[in-house]
Amino acid sequence: MPHVARIYDYYLGGKDNFPADRQAAEKTLEVFPDAPTAARQNRAFVHRATRYLVAEAGIRQFLDVGTGIPTRPNLHEIAQGIAPESRVVYADNDPIVLAHARALLTSTPEGKTAYLDADLREPEKILASVEIAETLDLDQPIALSLIAILHFIPDSDDPYGIIRRYVSVLPSGSYLALTHGTADFTVEVSAAQEVYRSRGISGTARSRQEVEQFFDGLEIVTPGVAVVHRWRPDAPFGDSLNDAQVSVYGAIARVL
Ligand SMILES: C[S@@+](CC[C@H](N)C(=O)[O-])C[C@H]1O[C@@H](n2cnc3c(N)ncnc32)[C@H](O)[C@@H]1O
Repeated sequence: MPHVARIYDYYLGGKDNFPADRQAAEKTLEVFPDAPTAARQNRAFVHRATRYLVAEAGIRQFLDVGTGIPTRPNLHEIAQGIAPESRVVYADNDPIVLAHARALLTSTPEGKTAYLDADLREPEKILASVEIAETLDLDQPIALSLIAILHFIPDSDDPYGIIRRYVSVLPSGSYLALTHGTADFTVEVSAAQEVYRSRGISGTARSRQEVEQFFDGLEIVTPGVAVVHRWRPDAPFGDSLNDAQVSVYGAIARVL
């Protein structure tokens, strides 16, 4: 059976994927050839967003759910490159990610990282875990990082309610950072969603308005919900990329 973590690894040029994953990825590329561009821009957002959270917002603790197969630099490497004392708990529900988790446990001596085999849809279990208790201080601000995971949570699993349950226990000054696939710019993404669904992977592209709803009650950081390559770009990208090629929204917001 194909798995999203390994399909995504294939788009990024990784080696941790099997024939079923490569077949699903190739089928997707037939209908949405820009999937690797979208994946790379999504990773680039992780770099900029993490730098923003550490260097500008002063965050030193992260909970990253839907981590994926380790891809260097991983979130803790970016955060600890700026603030070595940063602490990161990673969580994913894919056994293949668990099998590679050692690469996520390469913390600086001043900081700490932990890995948790868990499902985003069980916030209480994640928040009450030993890994969180031993790694994060729930009284201090935490950035909840949900990168390219929520489009795998169908409406029937109440993704908005899930986010509210996490945010309700985060102290004031915490942040929510997320990215999310969208079909707002091209029907190719809807076709890609069908390829995933035909292989048993629930994919739900959401509109800008639906993505904005994840941030209800939070103070959104400028520029708000943007296609990820337009979110605080390091350098002007001119005409080299358009929104349809990227088709992933991203944003960061502060918990009041
Ligand atoms: C497309 S990858 C994104 C990886 C990484 N966050 C990034 O953006 O580079 C999505 C990840 O979410 C994980 N995932 C999907 N549904 C999940 C759930 N309900 N609970 C935990 N992890 C989940 C998958 O196993 C996969 O590793």
